[in-house]
Amino acid sequence: MGTLNSSFLFRSQLRRVISIAIVGMLICFCIVLYGFKHADRTVEKINRDRLFHLREACERTNNGGKNTIETSFYIHVKNESLLYCLVFKSGTTTWFYNINRWAGISEETILDDKTDNFNMARQKYPWENPRVLLTSMKNTYSFIVVRNPFERLISAYEERLLGQLHPYFKNLSHQIYRRYHDDGNHFGIPSFEDFARFVVEQSRNKKPADLHWRPINDLCTPCLARYDSILKMETFAQDIEYLTNRTQLHGKIKPVQMNRSRRDRVDRLIEKYFSQLTKQQFDDLYDVYRIDFELFQYSSERFSKYVKQTE
Ligand SMILES: *[C@@H]1O[C@H](CO)[C@@H](O)[C@H](O)[C@H]1NC(C)=O
Ligand SMILES: *[C@@H]1O[C@H](CO)[C@@H](O)[C@H](O)[C@H]1NC(C)=O
Ligand SMILES: *[C@@H]1O[C@H](CO)[C@@H](O)[C@H](O)[C@H]1NC(C)=O
Ligand SMILES: *[C@@H]1O[C@H](CO)[C@@H](O)[C@H](O)[C@H]1NC(C)=O
Repeated sequence: MGTLNSSFLFRSQLRRVISIAIVGMLICFCIVLYGFKHADRTVEKINRDRLFHLREACERTNNGGKNTIETSFYIHVKNESLLYCLVFKSGTTTWFYNINRWAGISEETILDDKTDNFNMARQKYPWENPRVLLTSMKNTYSFIVVRNPFERLISAYEERLLGQLHPYFKNLSHQIYRRYHDDGNHFGIPSFEDFARFVVEQSRNKKPADLHWRPINDLCTPCLARYDSILKMETFAQDIEYLTNRTQLHGKIKPVQMNRSRRDRVDRLIEKYFSQLTKQQFDDLYDVYRIDFELFQYSSERFSKYVKQTE
């Protein structure tokens, strides 16, 4: 009797433990599942917010002051049903790599510094006139990659004017230096302040800015386009994953990063460069990129706090 009773007790207790364990596992499973679903929804919601904000900001700014769509930098990858507006200094390494690889160009050629990836892509993916492009946007997954305008500017300055990989930029760099320094030095390297002054003056004189620092509003006229997603450099990995999910291009999109020697921490760079500017210079520079800041919900606080206080 004693053994039977305790064995019965043991079994019912065991059953209870197992039930609790199963229920517990189910709850955990549901939480994990919800977590995944929730993560998707969050990225999707972020994207929806970005698109919604762009619409709103476009209305507020009178379409960024644009009347006709700028078609030059849109690339239509018909094979993958993708339409991309390329913003130089904002994820172009990854996208040039992928679109030129899809077109059969070798990795060595694409990653070679001397290659003009934009020209190469253009030969494989012909330019579309405004009417065709607007139709393509309706039928294709259309996207743009953006970045904080001032981080983009720092990146352009470091890579193009300090890096001096190309003879053209070497020349431009010395020209900018000579413009603001009357010291007979023909091979001077411009400071960030010189560069900022140059960017502002070029803009005031209505000279087209170099593609690497031309405002996104001028490159892609985003207010006159239609996008399915807005990717940001600040959340690039997550946004690429979302785009891959939406376009079913799993295994086809490879993120690529250039290994540049200058990889100081961003905060350090911001302080180093923006502390060279007066409040007036900062405001003038902000004006050049004002629309970009507004369309893509960027803030300039991280930069303005370093500006020279005395003047
Ligand atoms: C598109 O796909 C076709 C068929 O696979 C191929 O022949 C062509 O080269 C591709 N075009 C580009 C630009 O990748
Ligand atoms: C540098 O740029 C100036 C002005 O655009 C041009 O006249 C000159 O030929 C260029 N020099 C070189 C070495 O490319
Ligand atoms: C992409 O899809 C996978 C599998 O469905 C999912 O786990 C992941 O959270 C999705 N990511 C994004 C950013 O949508
Ligand atoms: C950058 O460096 C990593 C690791 O060293 C390498 O795998 C990658 O191919 C490099 N990327 C380029 C564009 O050279």
